[in-house]
Amino acid sequence: MAVIAVTRERRSGETRVAAVPETVKKLIGAGFTVVVETGAGTAASYPDADYEAAGATLAKTAKDVLAKADILFKVRGPEADELAVLKPGTIVVATLNPYQDKATLDGLAKAGATAFAMEFVPRITRAQVMDVLSSQANLAGYRAVIEGAEAYGKAMPMMMTAAGTVAAAKVFIMGVGVAGLQAIATARRLGAVVTATDVRPATKEQVESLGAKFLAVEDEEFRNAQTVGGYAKEMSAEYQAKQAELISSHIAKQDMVITTALIPGHPAPRLVNAAQVASMKPGSVIVDLAIEQGGNVEGAKLGEVAVTRNGVKILGIPNLPGRIAADASALYARNLFAFSGLFLDKEGQFAPDYEDEILKAALVTQGGAVVHPNLKG
Ligand code: NAI
Repeated sequence: MAVIAVTRERRSGETRVAAVPETVKKLIGAGFTVVVETGAGTAASYPDADYEAAGATLAKTAKDVLAKADILFKVRGPEADELAVLKPGTIVVATLNPYQDKATLDGLAKAGATAFAMEFVPRITRAQVMDVLSSQANLAGYRAVIEGAEAYGKAMPMMMTAAGTVAAAKVFIMGVGVAGLQAIATARRLGAVVTATDVRPATKEQVESLGAKFLAVEDEEFRNAQTVGGYAKEMSAEYQAKQAELISSHIAKQDMVITTALIPGHPAPRLVNAAQVASMKPGSVIVDLAIEQGGNVEGAKLGEVAVTRNGVKILGIPNLPGRIAADASALYARNLFAFSGLFLDKEGQFAPDYEDEILKAALVTQGGAVVHPNLKG
């Protein structure tokens, strides 16, 4: 039966792992053999011994792990040392950041990998259990509030004490997809007064059902801003100007702003400009979740806490799911376990059906070339 390899993540700051002992057990139950590189789960608090107890074989180097592999499971794309020992035709399953990281795609193509970008798994009901964007964005939204609260020099909930009352923090969430919804829920649990905005009308009811207040320019363009796939469209310059005007006076009154706005295949939209940042009170905090796609906030810097002249902190933390690595790995690993089922036929034999709708949508390299229609050229 087919061999699944799990190597240690090599990219700097990547603490997650693509299989956890629980999913190793399930993969073996499904008939796979699993080989794990020693130390692969250490940063996510999964010791080697637990993988062994779950039935995996441990191997010390990428070469040994990949020697007999039919499939490689990763969080991020493989690095040069892994590609160098990858057998042509090996299936690679990872988040490949395909629109931005062309070098990784080219490397995979050159190595002859049959690579699947988990970001491209379509959002159809059957694939919900494989949706890594959702599983990771959910935890990122939670973690963004925790990081923001840590950087904020005041309390989140209102507290009445003998020495006086502490006011509740005002938190504004911009972009209410999976991450934004979890950020709303988390900020509410901490006792903040929460408002939120998005360009998709469907979000209004979702925001209100979480006990937060919705704020947006609700014009004709807004009513048509959602694509059939459920994503946001790039908004016109006129809409963005109206949006900025509405939001400016609101931002000036907020203690914390969390931005999560993304448009698939495009750079992140700019939602907060320098003047709006400057209008906030000293000690206010902004968390820019879109920082790895270019950022929603002017002045945000990848990997840095930018402190403005007026004392506003802008957090540009990359890889927020990596800061909650044990849970993020567990959810990601379950997504990949579900995806591995697509490589088996009805009898449970290893026989990937490349005509399957999900595999077809996620396939990015095969036979030495980049094959996905959105990435060619
Ligand atoms: P995303 O990560 O692509 O974007 C985050 C949010 O930013 C979105 O809500 C988007 O509308 C918003 N945004 C974009 N431009 C903006 C702007 N200029 N101003 C304010 N907000 C802006 O989105 P995510 O989290 O992937 O969710 C997209 C949709 O897909 C949601 O409706 C979600 O519920 C849905 N979804 C469906 C699934 C399924 O059917 N299997 C699974 C997961 C999510």
